[in-house]
Amino acid sequence: MSFFQSFRKPKKEAAPSSSNRNQQLVDKMRLSDSMLLDPDSIAMGKLLGQGGFAKVYQAELGGKLAVAKVIPSEKLNDEMCYLLQNEVTVWAKIKHPNVIEFFGMACTEKSILLLCEYMAEGSLLERHDRLLKAKVEPPPMRVLIEQMQQLSSGMEFLHAVRPHPILHRDLKSANILCAEDGHRLAIADFGLARFQGDCGVKMTAETGSYRWMAPEVIRHEEYDIFCDVYSFAILAWEMLTYRIPFENKMPVEAAMAVARHAHRPEIPTSCPSKVKELIEICWHQNARARLPFSEISLRLAQEAALLASPPASPMAVAVGSEAVPPAFVG
Ligand code: ADE
Repeated sequence: MSFFQSFRKPKKEAAPSSSNRNQQLVDKMRLSDSMLLDPDSIAMGKLLGQGGFAKVYQAELGGKLAVAKVIPSEKLNDEMCYLLQNEVTVWAKIKHPNVIEFFGMACTEKSILLLCEYMAEGSLLERHDRLLKAKVEPPPMRVLIEQMQQLSSGMEFLHAVRPHPILHRDLKSANILCAEDGHRLAIADFGLARFQGDCGVKMTAETGSYRWMAPEVIRHEEYDIFCDVYSFAILAWEMLTYRIPFENKMPVEAAMAVARHAHRPEIPTSCPSKVKELIEICWHQNARARLPFSEISLRLAQEAALLASPPASPMAVAVGSEAVPPAFVG
């Protein structure tokens, strides 16, 4: 190589095209090969919904139903790319029956696609709305507790991720999806919630999430895993009632009432006392007084066991045909 060649002024590089930029972003995620999807293997279906920066479509991936979140290239500024990278890296590593499964990522000229499992029944919010309009009563407590156990199990799993727990930060009925049999629930959008919060895009009244937000988050104080425990308690209340929390207040009024005056929704009298007690601890004004999900799961399991085989009352023993009161045995 001659002296002049080595000192040649570098050619002015053309700005990377959006497809190059998208590809660079995908490369940075260091996904396993099986999670790097060929866009041609994805068949797009109907539009399911639209978020702040992504559109959500039904899709088919290798003959399997899926959901494609499509993020247009123009929304991917440097900060968004960095945060998306963070989230996908985490989401790709986790697998739990009560957390929406990540299938992989693809990139095209115009967008980045995130593929995840399809949940045929849609969100719990939509389901509650349908059932409330049809005047259908919430299911028996045994079923509700079983559903709460699923959500607690998914959250316990996310909070146990190391080195850093995954905080959902936007746990609410709209972010819980139901499988077609209506029995399996899975937590969705934990990645996007974190993504938004970190970007400085504050969760405002418009997002609607104020109704589920822990007092310390509303007050812009430091928060940790226990902000999700608060939101879980509000979500459990929604499951008991099918209603939107603080429905007679504007989201921002609800937030003020929660943060300043410790207002909470009213728990129906039909709720067993142990479940009421659990919800009340979980939405405690003091985050330190709330329970970790491991303990919530334990308490729900105890309540489920009790409902499956309630302790026989002394009267029930006495009226049984062949029953001998314990005092007379032996
Ligand atoms: N809407 C948003 N995400 C979805 C999913 N994974 N399944 C069904 N509907 C959805």
